[in-house]
Formats: sequence, structure tokens, C-alpha cells
Amino acid sequence: MVLTGDPEQLMLRMDNLADPTRLRLLRLLERRELGVAELVEILQLPQSTVSRHLKILADQGWVASRSQGTMNLYRMTPSDLEPSARALWKVARRETGEWATARQDDLRLDHHLSNGGRRAEEFFAGAAAHWDKLRREQYGDRYGVIGLLALLPASDVVADLGCGTGSALADLAGHVKRVIGVDSSTEMLKAARQRTREMSNVELYRAPLESLPIRDGECDAATMFLALSYVADPTRALAEMARILRPGGRAVVVDLMSHDREAFRIEMGQRHLGFEPAALESLAEEAGLEGVTTRPLVPEPGAQGPALVMLTGRQAAPVRTIHAEAIEERT
Ligand SMILES: C[S@@+](CC[C@H](N)C(=O)[O-])C[C@H]1O[C@@H](n2cnc3c(N)ncnc32)[C@H](O)[C@@H]1O
Repeated sequence: MVLTGDPEQLMLRMDNLADPTRLRLLRLLERRELGVAELVEILQLPQSTVSRHLKILADQGWVASRSQGTMNLYRMTPSDLEPSARALWKVARRETGEWATARQDDLRLDHHLSNGGRRAEEFFAGAAAHWDKLRREQYGDRYGVIGLLALLPASDVVADLGCGTGSALADLAGHVKRVIGVDSSTEMLKAARQRTREMSNVELYRAPLESLPIRDGECDAATMFLALSYVADPTRALAEMARILRPGGRAVVVDLMSHDREAFRIEMGQRHLGFEPAALESLAEEAGLEGVTTRPLVPEPGAQGPALVMLTGRQAAPVRTIHAEAIEERT
């Protein structure tokens, strides 16, 4: 064993290790990254004592820490220590191996690890208040929406009307049989084509929403996101939406709730100052949808435009004509 470095540094290192609590902490943290609460439980010492010794070890470079949610996690990695500290630790670990207290610590750590849920429980107890932010930072926002899209029947044909640059098309393509995008803007369609170029089940058409190039009843579902405010004749566009749906097929429209921001309307090139939910419901029913409902969408943090409203409905099932004779026969 070679102890290098300057003598003062060596004395300091030896001083750092000249404490049974610190030696116990290092033994545990070499085995596993742990938080203060876990260390308190395993060492059976007051939190203030554990925190004080951890601080010394962290300040002197024996342990590294990182924050996770509201917790700080600590770890000791011998290969990260400078050579003299590593050499000292090797001796200290060997000499403490037979300590009764150290064996007890090991047993309690084994028990703690086999009781794996404790850590998660402890973590979420501290993380609940800021989990949304933490989740976004660590995993992004999209996995939930993608998971929900997986609930769609894989055999569905879905149209996105006023598809713009194709973000909904791209989301849908992995989950359903066919996706049809329609838009009147060549430039927007170009971007949609680029975005979906690897997706063989996406079809794009340049056409007005008031006259869709899709057969009657061809689609199981249709969406129209932020496009109705641009359309000269919204009832006609909704009637076209209803026409391309099979009986029972589902329609979802998201658009601006009625507002008075004229400057915004002009800047965005829209024809309408949004829609009153009740008026939108009437338009959809007139267009041939049934089971129509609307609900305001909770504005997303930071969204600066007017609030949005979502309408859902179904293509009315064909009216079943039961002949009088048949009714008589049944009764
Ligand atoms: C605000 S963008 C929304 C795009 C996309 N749905 C989204 O949510 O990102 C509105 C789209 O509707 C298209 N659009 C507007 N009026 C239209 C019409 N009458 N016929 C077809 N497309 C139209 C525009 O070209 C534009 O791409």
C-alpha cells in the first residue's frame, strides 16, 4: 500500500476517518446510494448526527451527493477518491469488517433493500408536491398521450381535418390502420409530408374542409383541431366531417372558445372570434352528429391564446325503419 500526497492532507484524511459513525456511513454508502432518512433508519442514530457527519464526508470529498426531488442521495465510490484516501479506506474497511455494529448495519441495509418499496414510498412522500415538474424534466410530457392513443382500436381509419404540419397525424400513425390528413395549405402539407415521411399508413390530401376527398362512412373517427375558426362555413365543414364517418364513428373538434380579441383573430388569420360552446353544439347537431357534448379545456400553463373548447359527438346511426306489420307481428 502506498500513501502519497502531502502529509497535511494525509492527517486530514485520517482525521476524517477517526470517527465510528463516519466509518459506518462510508461502509453503507459504498454498498448503496442512500438518503438521510434511510441512513437514520439503518444506523439508528438521530438525523442531526447523521446529517452532521454526512456533511463532513461530503465537504472532504469522501462521498458524492445528488438531489432527487426533495431528497439528497449520497454515495461513496472508492475509485473516485484520491489515491491516499482510497488506500486509507481500504485499511479502514478491512478493520471495521468484523465490528459487531458494522455487521448490524449490514443486516439492516440488507433488510432495507429487500423491502424495496420503502424507498419508493419515501421518495413519493417527498415528491408529491412537485412530481409533475419532476416528471416533465425527467421523462417529458408525451408518454401519457401516446399511451392513451394506444387505447384506439388498431383497425381504425382516422382523419385529421385541417391537419396543418401533421403533429396529430404523426401521433396517430403508430396506433391505427390508416390516417388521412386534409388541409388546404400547400406549405402546411409539405411540412406534414416531411414529418410523416417514414409512416406508410399516412395519406395527405390538399382540399377544402367544406368538400373532403373522402368517401361517405370511410372513417371510424375524425379530428379537427384549431381549424374551424378559419372556415367560412363551419356548418358545412362539420357536415362533411359527419359524412365521412361510419355510423357511430366519433368526431372530436377543438377550437377557440368565443372571445373578443379582435387583434388576435386578425393576427392569426381567423374568420371567427371562437365559438360559444352551446352554439357549437347546435352546429354539430345540425351537421348530423349526435351525442354531442362540449367542455372547456383547462388552459395550459403559459398558453397565451384564448381558452379552448372541445366538442365530441358521433355520426348518427341510420334510422331503423320498422314496418307496422313487423311491429304487429312482435306484439
Ligand atoms: C391553426 S392550423 C391547425 C393545424 C393543426 N390542426 C394543429 O392543431 O396544429 C389550421 C389549419 O387549418 C387549415 N385550414 C384552414 N382553413 C381551411 C379550409 N377551409 N380547408 C382546409 N384547411 C383549412 C390551415 O391551412 C391550417 O393548416
